[in-house]
Amino acid sequence: MSTRPIRIAPSILSADFTRLGEEIRAIDAAGADYIHVDVMDGHFVPNITFGPIAAAAARQASRKIIDCHLMITPADPFITAFAKAGADIITVHAEAGPHLHRSLQAIRNEGKKAGVAINPATPVSAIAHVIADVDLILVMSVNPGFGGQTFIEESYTKLRQVRDLVGGRPIDIEVDGGVSADNAGKLAAAGANVFVAGTSIFAGNDPKTYAARIAAIRNGALTIQV
Ligand code: DX5
Ligand code: ZN
Repeated sequence: MSTRPIRIAPSILSADFTRLGEEIRAIDAAGADYIHVDVMDGHFVPNITFGPIAAAAARQASRKIIDCHLMITPADPFITAFAKAGADIITVHAEAGPHLHRSLQAIRNEGKKAGVAINPATPVSAIAHVIADVDLILVMSVNPGFGGQTFIEESYTKLRQVRDLVGGRPIDIEVDGGVSADNAGKLAAAGANVFVAGTSIFAGNDPKTYAARIAAIRNGALTIQV
């Protein structure tokens, strides 16, 4: 398992967009550590969500860490806009462009934490040579584009490889897709310490359920299952 603190990152992709501000305030009050903002362009992934304006709205609604997951290509022309919007972490996909090192440097040059995401089919070796340039590695445990998909079991093996690559470096390992209280312990055992969850927190969009669901994922992660 990771020695880094467990963080729960509800994905607002599964929020009720007709009352997005309320939903963000609700997960903030319910104990979310990060607000995970899934940015999709209809090009890198087969869905379109929102851009820097929505990230700025999330920033206004919460003082928690704003965790922007950019599923867009190219990403570089938008990094400054997300930084200005108030993102704390900006994550780009390793598959999204030919100059990953440049993208990560651009994020750090904005004074933000730099994340790199890898799709299910991408080997961990794709990020080996940028390990000194990242603050977070996001392992996609579904194909990006939609909430509510089935968790891909191979992700455990990949997380263990990422954990080995990270070694003792101060890098967070985030897992995204099909995360729930049921698999959080096994994911933590494989090395994850940041847990993105859309459906398992927002299903039904009843704010009264959020605190218990966030706590259940956190408790699951703390109850390591080997
Ligand atoms: C998928 C997104 C995820 C998604 C997770 O492309 O990156 O953050 O919202 O949703 P669940 O938790 O429902 O799998
Ligand atoms: Zn995401």
